[in-house]
Amino acid sequence: MTSSSDLEQIETRTLSLVRDFSFLHADDPVANSCKAVADAVAQQAVTSSEGGKRLRALLTLDAFRAFAPQDVAERDMDAVLDLACAIEVFQTGALVHDDIIDDSDLRRGKPSAHRALATDTHSDAIGHGLGIMLGDMLATASVDIANKAACRLGSGSSVVSAFLNMHREVEIGQVLDLAVELNTLDDPEELASASLNVFRWKTASYTTIAPLEFGMLAAGLAPADARRLALAIGLPLGLAFQLADDLLDVIGSSRNTGKPVGGDIREGKRTVLLADAIEAAGDVERRELIDMWEAESRDEAHVRRAIALFESTGAIARSKERIAGLWLESKAAIETLELSQDRKDMLTEACARFVPIVREQG
Ligand code: IPE
Ligand code: IPE
Ligand code: MG
Ligand code: MG
Ligand code: MG
Repeated sequence: MTSSSDLEQIETRTLSLVRDFSFLHADDPVANSCKAVADAVAQQAVTSSEGGKRLRALLTLDAFRAFAPQDVAERDMDAVLDLACAIEVFQTGALVHDDIIDDSDLRRGKPSAHRALATDTHSDAIGHGLGIMLGDMLATASVDIANKAACRLGSGSSVVSAFLNMHREVEIGQVLDLAVELNTLDDPEELASASLNVFRWKTASYTTIAPLEFGMLAAGLAPADARRLALAIGLPLGLAFQLADDLLDVIGSSRNTGKPVGGDIREGKRTVLLADAIEAAGDVERRELIDMWEAESRDEAHVRRAIALFESTGAIARSKERIAGLWLESKAAIETLELSQDRKDMLTEACARFVPIVREQG
């Protein structure tokens, strides 16, 4: 299967699984006057699920192909496809919650779920509450889908355990992401290292480590081996992915990312980029950055000025260097695998999708 036909299958199957889980059944005993809101949430589950890049699902399929014996690959592919879709359903739920936490208006080029639900119900408070519940519903749906897929695979309970561990890690990660916001700005080295540590939890856990681990478990690897290899390849790759995401927030375009540009700056987020800029800045610019971040809010002029300082201090170049170094680590871990060179090359290509920024730099 090519990745374009993988993408089509992931898209169709994900939306069908989300529909099955989200809409009320004909015999559900729900009062007629409340059905419209339940339908709006179910419809939003579908709308929010559309438009992702599906990087996690693609990596799950490719990791499975890289490790599975030929006969296993043919027999179990449908179940692995569902497992791959389960991570995408989890991802959508995590993003619905993330947009509430980050107060973001735009996701995948459309209004974020809680904003759309506020419009549907003419109430910000109800939209907010429904967004929390939609995120929960999608998280539960993801476990249901993963569990059913795992039952069809020989590696059943280890897949479910790994799936639940992924949930736990992202939940801790989002808690730590908020905790970093309480860091002071006078110790940029500590800020950069705390922030990178959060990336391991909130992003690498489910973006690269889990897809690799699920693919390997489905292919029949022992849980301890799958975990060890998934960490060796996926941890540096996931850190690079979140660094690139933070960079795109500053140098990307909303048309390409489907997210607001400068959102992290407006939010006053304490990122690795900010830490690197504060570290490298002269006294005057350092004070300017700290004052900007300690202010109640930041307007468009502040966003432009912060981006200029990220550039002039070399923080943007530093992030690109960090990303390139992490990608080398990930590639080196793939090269040590006991697989044919063809399979290693295929896995390298699959992982390279997470760091297009490295290729753009040449
Ligand atoms: C966004 O992930 C959340 C992060 C971990 C940075 P993606 O950039 O993969 O988002 P979608 O799924 O393609 O929308
Ligand atoms: C990653 O963080 C989100 C999750 C782990 C769910 P961000 O807050 O940077 O993600 P975006 O930029 O909103 O997609
Ligand atoms: Mg966010
Ligand atoms: Mg966030
Ligand atoms: Mg981001």
